[in-house]
Amino acid sequence: MSIKVVDKYLKGFISQSELDAEWKKIPEIVEVIKNKTGAGNDFLGWVDLPENYDRKEFEAIKKAAEKIRKQSEALLVIGIGGSYLGARAAIEFLKSPYYNQMTKGAPEIYFIGNSFSGDDLADVLAICEGKDISVNVISKSGTTTESAIAFRIIRDVLSKKYSAEEIRDRVYVTTDKARGALKGLADKEGYETFVVPDDIGGRFSVLTPVGLLPIAVCGANIDALMDGALSFKKEYDANVVNEATKYAVIRNVLLKKGKDVELLCSYEPALRMFTEWWKQLYGESEGKDGKGIFPASVIFSTDLHSLGQYIQDGQRKLFETVLKQGEANLDVKVPFNEADFDGLNYIADETLHNVNEKAYLGTMLAHTDGGAPNLIIEYTKRDEKTLGELIYFFCIACAVSGYMLEVNPFNQPGVESYKKNMFALLGKPGYEEMKAELLDKLSKQ
Ligand code: PA5
Repeated sequence: MSIKVVDKYLKGFISQSELDAEWKKIPEIVEVIKNKTGAGNDFLGWVDLPENYDRKEFEAIKKAAEKIRKQSEALLVIGIGGSYLGARAAIEFLKSPYYNQMTKGAPEIYFIGNSFSGDDLADVLAICEGKDISVNVISKSGTTTESAIAFRIIRDVLSKKYSAEEIRDRVYVTTDKARGALKGLADKEGYETFVVPDDIGGRFSVLTPVGLLPIAVCGANIDALMDGALSFKKEYDANVVNEATKYAVIRNVLLKKGKDVELLCSYEPALRMFTEWWKQLYGESEGKDGKGIFPASVIFSTDLHSLGQYIQDGQRKLFETVLKQGEANLDVKVPFNEADFDGLNYIADETLHNVNEKAYLGTMLAHTDGGAPNLIIEYTKRDEKTLGELIYFFCIACAVSGYMLEVNPFNQPGVESYKKNMFALLGKPGYEEMKAELLDKLSKQ
């Protein structure tokens, strides 16, 4: 197992008795998750997924990915929230944020339908002009407006470029097995479909076809990804005290001490999208009923030159959870220079990984001195197995942590409010009364 939660820098911030009080809740919560008896228990399908996934569909995903790799120069992945973040996070983690510039003949991968920005979509369409494309539209509900609009636009583009038969050969739909407008359309048009299981919510779905198809298209080994998740699951199942329960306990103790902002920090830009995935996972799962830790993220040392001042010296409400990578995937050395024009010969021959390591240690000491507690999550390197472990670790820790907070970690009632207002303002049939109320409200602002 490559994940280790390191709490030694928390001395002075939390006490053993505070930890003990939170640990008392854990055995019961672990049982509640195992027996599926807690709030939101209909959405625990992801817990057993590393053992129980549909092997036949898994092979079909690999086959589809191979076909996309052979017949396309670009894959457009349409989806938002849980139908977007996990796949993008995985591709950047396993390959690079520069994946599209380094594909070596494999398809470039663009994520669209994750905002209403016409500018953004127009840019992707311009990049893909003249390229052979495939499309993976992902939506569990099959009705999400951002992705539905993008798919309508892309179908229009496809219809000007390919025959109906060619389109059928290039569009892949990941959605509910029976419900939703997208499923109806897929059946009517004969698109190949993959299933988002009923009992797995969007933000917990990265190890289903939602994440697996785009991840496989980038050439990653999805068998190793599932193996990694399984290896963390075994660790979690074997001991009530494990890295996931430890993380859940510590963050809840810190919350009780007034630290209600958690900054997930990485020293690797390749983890930027992973931190975005984590923000959705924890924000949507815990932020409800007036409770929750606000999940934020930073990439160091980049953000030490923007948010570093606040973290060191601003309101003392935050704690840092540092994702610490053990080994570099690739590395670069600082060269020796005869003239030493920049005074850097004292680190000549050092790898940037070592420089990064010192930046991490120096920052951790400075921030803890400044009153920002640092919890460290060590992982070995950026590969499929480690990513699978990290995904399972964060998902299971999120469920445990949500139950510690006494919320339902698997719903998201709050995200409906903006949608209703937007539908009314756009003039969607059925929202006429609401539209009048909102326009009146706006006119009085
Ligand atoms: O976690 C969630 O449930 C949400 O973020 C959804 O993933 C997001 O709203 C997209 O929903 P859908 O997959 O139904 O299009």
